[in-house]
Amino acid sequence: MSGDTGGNAETVVRRERFAGGPARSFMSSLDADTRIFAADLAVDRAHTVMLAEQGIIGDDDAGAILDALDTVEDAGHDALPEGEDVHEAIESAVVADVGPAGGRMHTARSRNDEVAACIRYRFREDLLDAAEATLDLRGALLDAAAAETETVVPGFTHRQHAQPTTVGHLLASYAGAVARDTDRLLAAYERTNRSPLGAAAFAGTTFDVDRGRTADLLGFHDTIENAADAVTARDFLIEGCGAFAALSATLSGLSTDLIEGAKDGHVDLDDAYASTSSIMPQKKNPDSLELVRAVAGDAVGDLTGLLTTLKGLPRAYNRDLQRATPHAWDAVDITTEATEVAAGAVATADWDAAACAADAGAGFSTATGVADALAAAGLPFRTAHELVAESVTTIDDGATVDDQIDALAAAADAVLDEPLSAYVDDETLADLLSPAGSVAARDSHGGPAASAVEDSLTRLRETYDDHAAAVDAHREGLAAADERLAAEVADYV
Ligand code: ARG
Repeated sequence: MSGDTGGNAETVVRRERFAGGPARSFMSSLDADTRIFAADLAVDRAHTVMLAEQGIIGDDDAGAILDALDTVEDAGHDALPEGEDVHEAIESAVVADVGPAGGRMHTARSRNDEVAACIRYRFREDLLDAAEATLDLRGALLDAAAAETETVVPGFTHRQHAQPTTVGHLLASYAGAVARDTDRLLAAYERTNRSPLGAAAFAGTTFDVDRGRTADLLGFHDTIENAADAVTARDFLIEGCGAFAALSATLSGLSTDLIEGAKDGHVDLDDAYASTSSIMPQKKNPDSLELVRAVAGDAVGDLTGLLTTLKGLPRAYNRDLQRATPHAWDAVDITTEATEVAAGAVATADWDAAACAADAGAGFSTATGVADALAAAGLPFRTAHELVAESVTTIDDGATVDDQIDALAAAADAVLDEPLSAYVDDETLADLLSPAGSVAARDSHGGPAASAVEDSLTRLRETYDDHAAAVDAHREGLAAADERLAAEVADYV
């Protein structure tokens, strides 16, 4: 096969009939395609190598095309000729360089399978970067949690003082949530990392392509078999963006807990994560975390935009798909950055154990432990609940432990036929009424007692290691595929 047949470089790629007009820039994705410039070069290389291996194009033409792709890469995305998108522009550049034989590169494929391959190629890398950011956040949460297992702090429900807990328990709870976010990103990776190449427009090809070979050269662990499914499917983007939206929701909750903690004086954010007021000299505002919290708006918006764009699209390629992709790029960029910022804020935050402890008993927050003790001593829990509820109506928030014990004794006289001491002695009560004693007593699996949190942290670290190993293995797999492809390309150039 030689390179001496075919039209000139321009007409091979873009027919005159479609060369201009007012809708050109509206239809072009060339600018947004900077994101998949490297991906397209890799896809072009793998496809060209496979075509040569299958005898579909000659080795000399493959060599010339692969050489031209190197030149395109060196010149960069900004040097590309005009084109409807990066695929067309790179092909134009190759044809301009090689001559008509460059037009053989697009044998047995369509931009439909090409673009789907490029998006998957890039998005899988983005998913790994995001997963790594979640690992950094988990590392920061786990370290801070380990340092604060004894730091007693108020716990809230309905934003009302509820039960004392510890900073360690609070932060470990987020480490567990973010672990599930990593898990979701890795699951999305599994379904993203499959090759649509060789599907052509949607209906396969007459050429004897080796789809497994291009998949392997590009590091995809499998193919999307059905050709129409291969070019149409964007559910991997939905899944990834779903994972980003869920992660952003986790981040927004973490932000709020830290913002509230800063407001209450329990935690001091590093100055790098705070802002000042332009007028109020005394202010230190938790702006970075407010912005992290707001990213949920972007991520959920991107997921919604993506789903809305995809809804109702029939099989095979429709240009609507071009507007689906940028939602995914935006979601991954903004959520990953927010995750990194949250990790930094957590790692540098300074918890004030005395301030936390001073507030931990507010709102009769140790009352549940007293009811539990009475129930453990034989009183039906509902009766114990009633007795303790009665006692807190007779004293003010902030009453001393002695006053609380007196109030409990009086309530026992009113509610029971027996004295309080028949169930629990004053010394035990005093301990349970103290926030630290209250926390220490709640040592159930997953509870806030230091021993229980330390146990949890061990398991959370194991999961962290498993996920970190999975990310490393994926990265190594991709790097090995890069090397395989480069070695094959080197045989032709
Ligand atoms: N720029 C297009 C996209 O992003 C590439 C595929 C164009 N395919 C086509 N048949 N027009 O989706």
